[in-house]
Amino acid sequence: MKKILVTGGLGYIGSHTVVELQNSGFEVVIIDNLSNTTFDVLDKITSITSIKPEFVQIDLKNKKDVLQFFKNYTVDGVIHFAASKAVGESVEQPLMYYENNITTLTYVLQGMNANNVSNFIFSSSCTVYGQADELPITENAPTKPAESPYGATKKMGEIIIEDTSKVTDLRAIALRYFNPIGAHETAKIGELPLGVPQNLIPYVVQTAAGIRECLSIFGDDYPTPDGTAIRDYIHVVDLAKAHIAALNRLLNKENKAKCEFFNIGTGTGSSVLEVVKAFEKATGKKVNYKIVDRRTGDITAAYADTTLANKELGWKAKLSLEEGLASSWKWQESLLNVNL
Ligand code: UFG
Repeated sequence: MKKILVTGGLGYIGSHTVVELQNSGFEVVIIDNLSNTTFDVLDKITSITSIKPEFVQIDLKNKKDVLQFFKNYTVDGVIHFAASKAVGESVEQPLMYYENNITTLTYVLQGMNANNVSNFIFSSSCTVYGQADELPITENAPTKPAESPYGATKKMGEIIIEDTSKVTDLRAIALRYFNPIGAHETAKIGELPLGVPQNLIPYVVQTAAGIRECLSIFGDDYPTPDGTAIRDYIHVVDLAKAHIAALNRLLNKENKAKCEFFNIGTGTGSSVLEVVKAFEKATGKKVNYKIVDRRTGDITAAYADTTLANKELGWKAKLSLEEGLASSWKWQESLLNVNL
């Protein structure tokens, strides 16, 4: 049985990926510092898969702990999710973002290198493309200057990994996620809300639940058919499965370069208004909304060309936008029931 380290394995995408890893026959050890999640996610994962993943609570900012982990544990690969991800917060606290996302990455790579662990999957983002000149976006599209320190950490992360792969045994795949949505079908794991949501789907869901009064749609004067901005919303379970495909590519030595990059999206763009309508259709719930000014830093449209991931990883998104939105709603309902 292959053993995989999942950093940030109790987070949103991490927890769904741990479930898929266990379902695919991998043994999992999770590192998490619980900075943006709760310990009970471990029990939820266990109740879905009937297998308790090993859990090590260390903070990746502690270099000594990271290096000691790799001495103590023999792993066949690393999937590295642990990072901060709020765009606005990163503008306010750039140094925290560079420490949380970049310093930690260098420690993990050093720990791997010192202990001959060579297979590495990195959580990257479509944010590296900025507003691409052509749609859909292929992996060959040029990367653009980052709009935020968060975006910069994803760009820099890719550079650090590629540079390291040139001079060590590191074999890496960076997955450039488009917009992850949804939750596990059991509604036992999902995205944990923390304060006022910054992202569209959590805001839509909380508005439908009556927690927020009204969704603000940021701009209806974009050059798109209905004037609202377009994104590629991918179900988190499909996204989790892309990690298994990427990992198997590395373990089977099928990679064609030391460091590879893949877009992970559905290939379909949806506007903000389309998302609101799809949510109402999928759940029967009404979403109050108003149009307000554009949000600084937002781009007009981004959706993936997934040809490369389909062909090379043998992976394709299967779940629809409606399924993603319905699962987000089911997850929200389970949170409300807990709070009653
Ligand atoms: N939106 C609203 N109202 C809201 C929240 C979002 O209208 O309350 C709109 C945004 O303007 C955008 C779309 O919904 O058009 C999606 O917004 P999200 O915040 O959900 O997602 P983004 O596309 O802005 O975020 C993505 C990635 C981030 C990355 C960012 C870079 O998820 O990881 O792009 O710009 F940092």
